[in-house]
Amino acid sequence: ETIDWEADAAEKGGYEHYMLKEIHEQPQALRQTISGRLDTDIGDVDLNLNIPEEYLQSLEEVQFVACGTSYYAGEYAARLFEKIADVRATVSLASEYMFDGGRDPSRTLTIAVTQSGETADTLSAIRTAAEAGARTLAVTNTLGSTVTREVDDSMYIRAGPEIGVAATKTFASQVITLAMLSVYTGKRCGSLSGGRASTLLENMRAVPGAIQQVLDREQQVKAVAEEYADSDAFFFIGRDLGYPVALEGALKLKEISYDHAEGFASGELKHGPLALVTETTPVLAVLTEGSRSEKTLNNVKEVQARGAPVIVASSMENEKFVDELFKVPSAGLFEPLVANVYWQLFAYHVADSKGRPIDKPRNLAKSVTVE
Ligand code: G6P
Repeated sequence: ETIDWEADAAEKGGYEHYMLKEIHEQPQALRQTISGRLDTDIGDVDLNLNIPEEYLQSLEEVQFVACGTSYYAGEYAARLFEKIADVRATVSLASEYMFDGGRDPSRTLTIAVTQSGETADTLSAIRTAAEAGARTLAVTNTLGSTVTREVDDSMYIRAGPEIGVAATKTFASQVITLAMLSVYTGKRCGSLSGGRASTLLENMRAVPGAIQQVLDREQQVKAVAEEYADSDAFFFIGRDLGYPVALEGALKLKEISYDHAEGFASGELKHGPLALVTETTPVLAVLTEGSRSEKTLNNVKEVQARGAPVIVASSMENEKFVDELFKVPSAGLFEPLVANVYWQLFAYHVADSKGRPIDKPRNLAKSVTVE
């Protein structure tokens, strides 16, 4: 018993939970994700993929299929593909995926995003795409997993093993891997210039350091989390790249704290969710580059007028009016991804203050192999 306990504690590297250890591993995980893959001088990536250039040049649509946190990585990636590679990108929950709508399968690339490579719904979706005749690609953390045996090409996110049921470092590594893939696609389609690509690669290189700065402010996040832990509900809002981060922030919090948390597109607040906002429902907003923060700022004012406490993760200068401000270091289009680390720490400390079994939340599994 004692020996097991010590082995377990050693694997957690001094952290109380795997989740906290994995949150703190993100800078290192991301350095592994990009290692040897970025060529900043020529503004290109080296991904060891053999996708024919003629195929990429005739591409009409990139489809992402995934579940849970991987689905939110897909939502982030689809927006990056449209911005960076200028290609139409769609995202489907794997359990809702169908191949229809008059698409030409020979001009469709279907990408399965799956940490484990074993999620039943994701495997089923990728089989549907392959049967329809689309080219398929897997983006996964798990070498030799089932998905890699079913697809035309695979890319590894190299985040290292993730034990906590709630995905953390793998989300960051998925987004950065898919960002590299969007640069790869944009360069080969001719839609991305070398100069813009170089800037994107520099932004990617900045992410591990930016996340480290967020981690260094954990005590601030812990204090805020403890202050608001007993709220009636938590609402996360964001636009553009900030929207998937709002959804992911709410998912993390509900999974491990069992509190009611929801993510909304900032602009949708006035179409319903605003009816839920009171003095006891904190609103957590992303105000960064890539998240159309000027517009979200108006939504922040709407909820403040209803008395809701406002907690903001921001790379902007002028948010002195908010209740709590978490600073996001600059990282271009990856600032929302950096902001996400504040939401991970927030969820962790709310759940920890309530003594929840953070690494193994009730009713949830790390890998879901039934449909
Ligand atoms: C489960 C896990 C989630 C994960 C989802 C998809 O629900 O608890 O953390 O995001 O499956 O898993 P995958 O391995 O396909 O990324």
